[in-house]
Amino acid sequence: MRVGLLTGGGDCPGLNAVIHAVVKKGILHYGDEFVGFLEGWRGVLDNNSAPLTLAAVDGILDQGGTVLRTSRTNVRKIEGGIEKCVATLKANKIDALIAIGGDDTQSVTNALIQAGVPGVGVPKTIDNDLYGTDACFGFDTAVSIATEAVDRLHTTAEAHNRVIVCEVMGRDAGWIALTAGVAGGAHVVLVPEKPIDLDHVCGLLKYNHDHGKKYGIVVVAEGAKLPGGGQATQGSKVDSFGHARLSGVGQALAEMIEGKTGYETRSVNLGHTQRGGTPTAYDRMLATRYGLAAIDLVHQGNFGRLVVLRGTEIKDIPIAEAISKNRTVTDNFLEILDGLEPKV
Ligand code: F6P
Repeated sequence: MRVGLLTGGGDCPGLNAVIHAVVKKGILHYGDEFVGFLEGWRGVLDNNSAPLTLAAVDGILDQGGTVLRTSRTNVRKIEGGIEKCVATLKANKIDALIAIGGDDTQSVTNALIQAGVPGVGVPKTIDNDLYGTDACFGFDTAVSIATEAVDRLHTTAEAHNRVIVCEVMGRDAGWIALTAGVAGGAHVVLVPEKPIDLDHVCGLLKYNHDHGKKYGIVVVAEGAKLPGGGQATQGSKVDSFGHARLSGVGQALAEMIEGKTGYETRSVNLGHTQRGGTPTAYDRMLATRYGLAAIDLVHQGNFGRLVVLRGTEIKDIPIAEAISKNRTVTDNFLEILDGLEPKV
């Protein structure tokens, strides 16, 4: 078969491991040919592609980024976009398409499937908030990077008797903040699922202060809602490419904490460091399993499906189901935070 492959949306450690697995199994087991569309859906719109051979995927398994590059181009927001994509796929004699991406990317895959394109999806997001799967590759890497950063903040905060607010990624869900915050021993962890209660935050920091801990570490997800105005206060905006942007919750919160407690406070935003560099072994393994399962689905003629992790098993679900909602932090995980907090 002639199989098209693309990576869409924000990059994520493990993308190359998926590409590596798909191409290797496709060529070695099924005798496939691969066409890699470059820069996500933009490559399909503009008919910009490169052949993906065994040589092209040799040595990419452990690399961050994506050899296909990526973009946030959303075909559904472009007039005639779906028709253009269908025409490109036809011109390239593509028998099946594998799209690796999050809910935006998969909403396009779904639209193409409805237009008659045989497509399969592979889930991707470091935020770990794609519905229907227990885990996305990239999350483990992002959490490792964020945890190391939180670990390091303890000594400098303690040396100066400061509060340090560490902002991590997580636009709609607080999985990174919760996991890195708990693993890194943060004193306060704030997630989008629970609006920030400034009195409570300051109460926790004051409790520690009064019990001999003169410093504090606060981990906050970028999508957490500040008191008195939510995300608008923290500078939610649309950039010149039309992409929604959140900015500054960490800095705004640091100012609020300093104003209310009088403790010297700093903020640090880990930003894209969480998405850069090599994936962890866990992410390489999960990405490889997804890639192998995706090319199998293609050869079973099982289209319209997204490969997912359920427990320890790789399964598949309708793409339409996965894009219907977000997988946000559940109460049993929020209880971990409650369990570690003093009563203030
Ligand atoms: O969706 C993943 C994510 O990393 C979010 O946590 C973050 O808001 C966004 O992507 C950043 O996107 P960009 O790379 O386009 O700045």
